[in-house]
Amino acid sequence: MCGIVAYIGKREATPIVLDSLKRLEYRGYDSAGLTVEQEKRGPFVARVAGRVGKLEAKLVGATLPGTVAIAHTRWATHGAPSERNAHPHGDCRARIHLAHNGIIENHAALRATLIANGHRFSSDTDTEVIVHLVEERFRGTLEDAVEAALRELRGTWAIVVLSADDPGKIVAARNSSPLLLGVGSGEYLLASDASAVLASTKKVVYIEDGEMVTVTREGFRITNVDDAELRRRLVEIPWTLQEAEKGGHPHFMRKEISEGPEVVENVMRGRVRGGEVKLGGLETVSKRLDHVERIVLTAMGTSYHAALLGELFFEELAGIPAEVEYAAEFRYKRAPLATRNTALFAISQSGETADTLAALREAKRKGMLTIGIVNVVGSTVARETDAGLYNYAGPEIGVASTKAFLSQVVALLLAAIFLARGRAMGEREAQELLEALIRIPDAIRSLLKEENEIRALAKRFAHYENALFLGRKWSYPVALEGALKLKEVSYLHAEGYNAAEMKHGPIAMIDERFPTVAVVPDDSVRDKTLSNLEEIRARNGPIFAIATRGDRGVSSIADGVISIPRTHEILSPLLAVVPLQLLAYHIGIARGCDVDKPRNLAKSVTVE
Ligand code: F6R
Repeated sequence: MCGIVAYIGKREATPIVLDSLKRLEYRGYDSAGLTVEQEKRGPFVARVAGRVGKLEAKLVGATLPGTVAIAHTRWATHGAPSERNAHPHGDCRARIHLAHNGIIENHAALRATLIANGHRFSSDTDTEVIVHLVEERFRGTLEDAVEAALRELRGTWAIVVLSADDPGKIVAARNSSPLLLGVGSGEYLLASDASAVLASTKKVVYIEDGEMVTVTREGFRITNVDDAELRRRLVEIPWTLQEAEKGGHPHFMRKEISEGPEVVENVMRGRVRGGEVKLGGLETVSKRLDHVERIVLTAMGTSYHAALLGELFFEELAGIPAEVEYAAEFRYKRAPLATRNTALFAISQSGETADTLAALREAKRKGMLTIGIVNVVGSTVARETDAGLYNYAGPEIGVASTKAFLSQVVALLLAAIFLARGRAMGEREAQELLEALIRIPDAIRSLLKEENEIRALAKRFAHYENALFLGRKWSYPVALEGALKLKEVSYLHAEGYNAAEMKHGPIAMIDERFPTVAVVPDDSVRDKTLSNLEEIRARNGPIFAIATRGDRGVSSIADGVISIPRTHEILSPLLAVVPLQLLAYHIGIARGCDVDKPRNLAKSVTVE
């Protein structure tokens, strides 16, 4: 989820790309860099570990009259967030420079071949192989070299490339990572999203997967993989500059919910192959994992809710006894833990949550194998665990966690299937589940199209002051998460309960002013939950339900239903949580709340 930008025109390029980079910083901000083409002195490169502001400070006083530049702000995936890993990356002679967003899956094999051919690498990134490949294929024309190099890559990319040996030109290409061309008057910009070009132009061409664009001051040429020239329409961006920073969404929270499909694809990428799960991040500890007899999952907040699902996955799929502990409790409990052959999973979006870190350190002290499920690369939890998986959800800016939850649940599911090898899970069962998982991004896409109905439901809901969220088994953690989201962003009091537990106390609250949100997909406990809902109906409590499309039983007793597509029951949380996130978002908006920065909260809780 990096941000890339490039400029070619008549104006001095440096201030333009720096300004654009700042607008892309939400996509990642652990390092930044730029390359400016200079006619006589060769390419000028500046890179820093840290934010765009630091790069700007580094350039104060520099004379950079060049009018062609590429720039990048990074969210580390391969290689620590350091200056040496910051983009742009150069070839062996520092003549060709390249910035990249995406992941090159076959980088290890390409790197080995390139090194054998005499190339010298200077970073730990997957990206650097591309620039050396372009160097290898360069015969005087940059676009031909890039085209040849692209044929050898597997993975995802948006790239911008320039070369001192073919000056006055930028070549860019896209495969599954966003890229657009901004067309100004006598100038062109390339960028990851429209926010980065809006200060110069509102006219853009969206570059599609498999396309390459060659830009000079005189014009641009878009070609496809067969080198056929494509005629593309200019599109007018309908947003203001301010709106565009959120990619056209009014809030980061909504933007991040809408990224759900992409997030699920990212966490699976390269890990689900031929009906099997391959987790490079766990290979180093695979021998110890083979002997694991017990799993403890620890986390806080939304990550804790993902951990509750993780517990079910490990027990149901891998047959390994598992339990979830609030990280804040784990540290202070003197529970008799058999620490040998126990693995602790620490789940944290930020990787910096103080409670989770403390639990992790305690587990290490006790000699447990520690595994991180972390979104922020290079964060403390990621560094201090023995092994782990990154979620690759990209930067989450909205304070209420949404897309990170989805990616945590998928990462835990993959870890459970990985551990289930040779244990409780058969090959066919794994294959069926993975096939269903691959269909989840499209199912989420279809759900996101139902936003108008969810908005309408939110309007009916917004005047209440309390709400109960209910679910059983797979849907119980989802109910907890739905309630947490709602209270965070709307300040409406909401409690998540197990649907069966409800009649052991909370039912006393139910009347016509106390609504229930029931998560009741068509799974093995659906009938039981339905009976619990009858108990609420009998007491005149309004019921809003998340149910499987076409479930007449639920719609006959609920006052409002949001339908989700049918899926494998283990995967239903991935679909049920999305409408709950949207419901919380729209109720928050209807109640006039700052959904991106709810009062009293911070994105990363670094105190215990
Ligand atoms: C809720 C939320 C928090 C975090 C919690 C743990 O929307 O964002 O509850 O989930 O503070 O944070 P991480 O996952 O960064 O450890």
